[in-house]
Amino acid sequence: SAGDLAELAAALAGFDGCELKLGAASCDFADGNPEARVMIVGEGPGAEEDRQGLPFVGPAGQMLDRMFAAIGLSRSSPDPASALYITNTVPWRPPGNRDPAPEELALLRPFLLRHIELAQPQVLVLMGNVACSALLGQRGILKLRGTWAEVQGIPALPMLHPAYLLRTPAAKREAWADLLSLKARLRG
Ligand code: URA
Repeated sequence: SAGDLAELAAALAGFDGCELKLGAASCDFADGNPEARVMIVGEGPGAEEDRQGLPFVGPAGQMLDRMFAAIGLSRSSPDPASALYITNTVPWRPPGNRDPAPEELALLRPFLLRHIELAQPQVLVLMGNVACSALLGQRGILKLRGTWAEVQGIPALPMLHPAYLLRTPAAKREAWADLLSLKARLRG
């Protein structure tokens, strides 16, 4: 029922129904420009994100920034046309960076759906299996990536997670193809 993003951030920070909150130092709501045409949904905070209270500010985040800079998009852009809005599927760091459990995804999904509804992006980017699992009900990112889907009527592009690209540099070719597909969609 949150009426705007600030209300939603407060509701999430005050939500005591998910145990992930107990092990985390911060509740990472979002970063970037909420007016952006592109909204990125990652997995969950890592160590650096938990420290800073912002999504994608560790090594994977630096990779993400480089990837999107290559097609002219940045979280610090004031212009919605070239901006990014960034959030995660879960706002609290799972212990030891484990994957969020299905029950945790189910508990937090209504917050994520409302987040998307309030931000009203033109396009969603679903980074990796956890975001695809929560929003498409599907895993198997190596197959899903690059094929446009839909979330609440919004075109959604599954992509390889930047942490995966750091471990598997050869997969950057696929990520580049997906970035070009995103760029073409924004032009059209
Ligand atoms: N990986 C994610 O999915 N999100 C972050 O915020 C950091 C790393």
